[in-house]
Amino acid sequence: MKPLIASPWSARFDLLQSLSGLFLALFMWLHMAFVSSILWGEKAFWTVARFFEGYFFFGRSLPWLVSLFVACIAALIAVHALLALRKFPASWQQYRAFWEHRQRLAHLDTNLWPLQVATGFLMFFLASVHLYDLFIAPEQIGPYGSADLVWTGRTWPLLLLLLFCVEVHGLIGLYRLALKWGWPSFGDPQRTRRILRRLLWVLLVFFLAMGLLTLGTFISLGIEHAPRAGEPYVPSGMQEAL
Ligand code: HEM
Repeated sequence: MKPLIASPWSARFDLLQSLSGLFLALFMWLHMAFVSSILWGEKAFWTVARFFEGYFFFGRSLPWLVSLFVACIAALIAVHALLALRKFPASWQQYRAFWEHRQRLAHLDTNLWPLQVATGFLMFFLASVHLYDLFIAPEQIGPYGSADLVWTGRTWPLLLLLLFCVEVHGLIGLYRLALKWGWPSFGDPQRTRRILRRLLWVLLVFFLAMGLLTLGTFISLGIEHAPRAGEPYVPSGMQEAL
């Protein structure tokens, strides 16, 4: 039998997974801020969408900039997911060992881990569809185009499920990262864990509420716009120019 050789790559992969997860989780906070601009009105969302197409820098829209950004996020998710595969239990024996361990420990943090694995697994499918939609038709991102995709394009059930997966997965991930690396710390470890848990629930309720409100707004706009589905939004000041 070959002797086991200690390799630093396992730790490096762990670090890479933590860094990619951290980046993705923080990016999802920004993503929520941009998407929820629809709550400020159609013009606000139109402005955010055109901003990412470089409209205010180049004087015209370059939608491929958005496709490029989407491709980078998709690649990062793929790296993160590939590294995460190492952590998925791979056989019936491993599932049983984890289940027994979970019952013996009866600890919330141990129960959060399978939830993170399950939501991560679901995102293999849900995130791919969403990213593909954005990648192939970036020019359609706008108050009416996005509302049409949500309602007339019937993507809202997928987005609803994706919202829960991203928020639960990302926030449990951030909580676990904070415990793993000991930052932020609030005095003794017990107190730190208590405060971090409270923060986890508060942020979860906040992001789910924001996400549901935003999706609800797109759904009602999509229903209203359904008879004219496909017509883009043109801000009032620009209608005269056309
Ligand atoms: C197909 C997509 C994804 C899969 C399969 C996946 C899977 C996983 C798994 C299994 C873990 C636990 C690793 C461990 O036990 O140490 C994990 C950690 C994590 N994930 Fe994901 N994930 C995905 C996408 C995302 C996204 C979109 C975000 C951002 C919201 C994210 C944020 C995190 C964070 C912050 C961690 C903690 C990192 C750590 O413990 O080192 N993941 N992911």
